[in-house]
Amino acid sequence: VAHPMIAPSILSADFARLADEAAAVADAHWLHVDVMDAHFVPNLTLGLPVVQSLLKATDIPLDCHLMIEDPGRWAPPYAEAGAHNVTFHVEATENPVAVARDIRAAGAKAGLSVKPGTPLEPYLEILKEFDTLLVMSVEPGFGGQSFIPDVLDKVRAIRRLVDAGELTLLVEIDGGINADTIEAAAEAGVDCFVAGSAVYGADDPGEAVRKLRERAAH
Ligand code: DX5
Ligand code: ZN
Repeated sequence: VAHPMIAPSILSADFARLADEAAAVADAHWLHVDVMDAHFVPNLTLGLPVVQSLLKATDIPLDCHLMIEDPGRWAPPYAEAGAHNVTFHVEATENPVAVARDIRAAGAKAGLSVKPGTPLEPYLEILKEFDTLLVMSVEPGFGGQSFIPDVLDKVRAIRRLVDAGELTLLVEIDGGINADTIEAAAEAGVDCFVAGSAVYGADDPGEAVRKLRERAAH
């Protein structure tokens, strides 16, 4: 990809210093915000009040990744609050198209996320309702896990459709992205790379973002 986008995940940041942690990656494309409800995934993070505060604390567009049940009920308020992207999981709802339309009507970009084991074939027809496809390359729930390379087949398949002009969609990858794994993801056709521990585990998060971007641009 010519212009790789890096989205640092604040899941690996210091939650007591989120404004500073955002400032440390000021030239990131998006700031990735993992919302977990302890039901869809076995972990609990943050919700709408924290997102509302973050929106006031940073100019970086927020990429909200909702790992929650019942996104039809909970997703639109993130769009109304001013999140740039609101992404939810296809496994969490019976009616992803209705949720996408509500998100877009509320003024945000709509994203669809798939767990590593979820195939894309059943959803190809609905992807036109979305602005981004977030391919999970670890099981959602925790930072610091190892990249699952098999998911790159899904990335390649969608890349082909986008390059053929059959779809307009940004392809985003999330989980285990670091200096060693980002090149394979970039080669498969990823546009946007989420990185948590590789950014906030580094001594200089801003420098880590720049290094990842350079690697992806190879
Ligand atoms: C995991 C989250 C990821 C997480 C990635 O469920 O969706 O965004 O922060 O962390 P790393 O980059 O450490 O795998
Ligand atoms: Zn995420």
